[in-house]
Amino acid sequence: MALLKSVLLQRALCGSLSSSSTNLLRLKWAHFAWSQSQSMSAFAAVMSPPSKAVVYENHGPPDSVTRVIEVGPVEVKEDDVCVKMVAAPINPSDINRIEGVYPVRPQVPAVGGYEGVGEVFSVGSAVKDLSPGDWVIPFPPSFGTWQTYIVKERGVWHKIDKDSPMEYAATVTVNPLTALRMLEDFVTLNSGDSIVQNGATSIVGQCIIQLARLRGIHSINIIRDRAGSDEVEEKLKKLGADEVFTESQLDVKNVKSVLATLPEPALVFNCVGGNSASLVMKFLRQGGTMVTYGGMSKKPITVSTSSFIFKDLSLRGFWLQKWIIADKAQECRRMIDYLLRLAKDGKLKYVMEMAPFDNFHNALDKALGKLGSQPKQVIKF
Ligand SMILES: NC(=O)c1ccc[n+]([C@@H]2O[C@H](COP(=O)([O-])OP(=O)(O)OC[C@H]3O[C@@H](n4cnc5c(N)ncnc54)[C@H](OP(=O)(O)O)[C@@H]3O)[C@@H](O)[C@H]2O)c1
Repeated sequence: MALLKSVLLQRALCGSLSSSSTNLLRLKWAHFAWSQSQSMSAFAAVMSPPSKAVVYENHGPPDSVTRVIEVGPVEVKEDDVCVKMVAAPINPSDINRIEGVYPVRPQVPAVGGYEGVGEVFSVGSAVKDLSPGDWVIPFPPSFGTWQTYIVKERGVWHKIDKDSPMEYAATVTVNPLTALRMLEDFVTLNSGDSIVQNGATSIVGQCIIQLARLRGIHSINIIRDRAGSDEVEEKLKKLGADEVFTESQLDVKNVKSVLATLPEPALVFNCVGGNSASLVMKFLRQGGTMVTYGGMSKKPITVSTSSFIFKDLSLRGFWLQKWIIADKAQECRRMIDYLLRLAKDGKLKYVMEMAPFDNFHNALDKALGKLGSQPKQVIKF
């Protein structure tokens, strides 16, 4: 919030954030003037270092509305913690927030990003249980993680084990937690049961495979038709996938015939929609449930009348943000620690690519799919 205020303040000082290089100079000057006035009026105040942030002042295509700007120092009040960000991912929901199509999003102008990991840089005088050098993640996750320094009150930071692998600490909250919750919340699964999912190459998908395997649950995984699908299949099988199919391989009358000895699934996870959702639904047994948690194809879900009448299928939805708000923050923090222990022990892995902050827009292009299928982009500050 403090940094956002700072951005707003600078915007007021500069008039507008458009036209990059001239404005950068004006911003630098504004930051300097602003920080000087702050230090004169409150000479005892502890200030954060200046920060660099990915900001957008209007909603729209992320590659055209986002810019990296410099943000002036902000005061670290007595209950605040100043965190030097270490890494933060670019998730599909971050893109949707910038586009303005996500139901909950910060007001513009805003700093991008929602999760990440950082190192405590300094603490306010009333903060006794965090020290410089500690590693923290914002939990519940909060807006504005794509910046080099963040100042927020102590309560929003969850201290994590410093031995946690950095890229997993940066990405543990949104996707692995979603995978863990969805395996728990909808259908009682026992060892030997099976589940089906599309979007199996996503981080959520990779986590579902491994978390299911840890509980003895089989997974049937659908991926897009794409170049290199054989290698993708091999990688997912190494993670513990029982079966991996491309959508076109399932273009058969009776998809269940491909299941061989696996039991008919009672639970399906859908993050794609369109034809892919129709395909995964065909695997469901009588009375089964499809949980939709994403819509990567941007296409609607079509369900046949007979699926409802003769198979009594249930369609449900999952949204982590709502789940966390429902008074589950403490429980979630324990789950985060559990997932980070799994990552540290090598029991939870997923493919990521570290991207230098200086090259943010290249990472953004990859996350937007402009360069074809790419691993999850994680900004390294
Ligand atoms: N509801 C919630 O609370 C919640 C929480 C977390 C995530 N999610 C959602 O879960 C989904 C996966 O997130 P993530 O961060 O794990 O993904 P990710 O690692 O960034 O991977 C993106 C996935 O989407 C697929 N994809 C991209 N464009 C597609 C298209 N046009 N048609 C079909 N598939 C496409 C990719 O397939 P390729 O590998 O073939 O490129 C890949 O599997 C997203 O929809 C996200 O919004 C929802």
